[in-house]
Amino acid sequence: MAKKSRTSYVCQSCGTVHSKWGGKCEGCGEWNTLTEERAETDVPKGMGGGKGGNAIAFTGLKGGEAKYARVTCGMDELDRVLGGGLVPGSVTLIGGDPGIGKSTLLLQMACALAQRGRSCAYISGEEAIDQIRMRAQRLGLENAPVALASATSLRDIAATVEQGRGQEPDIVVIDSIQTMYVDVIDSAPGTVTQVRACTQELVRVAKKYNVAVLIVGHVTKEGAIAGPRVLEHMVDTVLYFEGDRGHQFRILRAVKNRFGPTDEIGVFEMSGGGLQQVDNPSALFLSQRAENTSGSAVFAGLEGSRPVLVEIQALVAPTPFASPRRAVVGWDGGRLAMILAVLEARCEILFSGYDVYLNVAGGLRITEPAADLAIAAALISAAADDPAPYDTVFFGEIGLSGEVRAVPQPELRLKEAGKLGFKNAFTPDRTRKGADPAQRQDVPIKARALPHLADLAALFARPKPARQQSYGHGSGSGGGYDDA
Ligand code: TYD
Ligand code: MG
Repeated sequence: MAKKSRTSYVCQSCGTVHSKWGGKCEGCGEWNTLTEERAETDVPKGMGGGKGGNAIAFTGLKGGEAKYARVTCGMDELDRVLGGGLVPGSVTLIGGDPGIGKSTLLLQMACALAQRGRSCAYISGEEAIDQIRMRAQRLGLENAPVALASATSLRDIAATVEQGRGQEPDIVVIDSIQTMYVDVIDSAPGTVTQVRACTQELVRVAKKYNVAVLIVGHVTKEGAIAGPRVLEHMVDTVLYFEGDRGHQFRILRAVKNRFGPTDEIGVFEMSGGGLQQVDNPSALFLSQRAENTSGSAVFAGLEGSRPVLVEIQALVAPTPFASPRRAVVGWDGGRLAMILAVLEARCEILFSGYDVYLNVAGGLRITEPAADLAIAAALISAAADDPAPYDTVFFGEIGLSGEVRAVPQPELRLKEAGKLGFKNAFTPDRTRKGADPAQRQDVPIKARALPHLADLAALFARPKPARQQSYGHGSGSGGGYDDA
């Protein structure tokens, strides 16, 4: 093998390697993200000759299940997102904005596992021991037998695990990958090369000693620190911890899981005493709903395997601008544009002279097209200034001709709504399997099918005709779709 040292320019946002420096990354189109990195590379030369390599031993597909006995920490919200618990020997990446609560979550998890008799090591490169102790005290977990250390050298960390000689910890938490470094690479900690090399080493240690490794990775919009995106393919499980720092809700979402389903969510609430699990998120998201207000509709949604009810709020107000403003929080701006267009074209409800604001209450972000019907209901209700019935939920996807299309798992949605005391549901005409949800006897809620958007509009008062743009020469500064 020839040893070669070369200089390359690595995009800190997407990880593309360039041979020349440039202002713009050709990979992702970001500006000013290329930094010089030197990498020692082992260039394999002519390996086909049969010298040196050993033959690999092949084996069958059967067997080996016992190795994957999962370790549960007793926090149901977390265990579910992991697919039923941590898998020994797996590497899990927890990404999220700084300050969202990743360290808090992992400390609580490590303590919960330690209290269940697992040996846990919590290694922080960000905080001093005293800081972590203070946090543990605040969480009331200072008596949990967690092995705590402050370290940043990955060589030391790997050596510590290797020297365990059969006594390796079951779980190792690394907080955060951006502070760790491998001494054979001379790039600064946090660069793509370092972050990758550190993760590679952690993956090797995890597989070899059957240790479950949890890695914290910060995501920043600026791309100044290497985002954990470049690591997603190297690890077994990727969880994102998201939420608005202005809200107390935090949502843990699985985006990749080699040992379980993705799209599961766990809901937490950040309180003075750490993260509390939210067992019934629907009740929480609906807790501040006001009766008899127009522009509000409840959507019976689905997050992974779990039904979640959320309130959709819309506000339709006359605009002083030439091009009206459309602002969305928690949903897709493009999808709102589509629904407004369908309402205009198929139901003759005009929004052209009005600003439209749409908000998913509670800070949740919805991606399901099944929310279309609830969004349309909130919009029509706001335009007509006619409240939607209070004890009613909506779900259904809207097509461009105004038809209401079937969505997955209507029974699950109806059951959850029934559990929370809702009496009526407006649903698509048919479920995907062809059964009519309205005919079902086993759900404690009356489901009414709406085949077309016009049937939804008929439930509300007729909106006042859209005003012509009376302000004539508006400043125009409010135009376009704002996606928050
Ligand atoms: P932290 O876990 O340090 O975030 P991260 O590791 O993702 O950067 O959490 C930081 C925030 O959480 C901090 O702003 C304070 C808040 N917090 C609480 O509100 N209550 C608590 O009990 C704890 C421990 C933190
Ligand atoms: Mg932290």
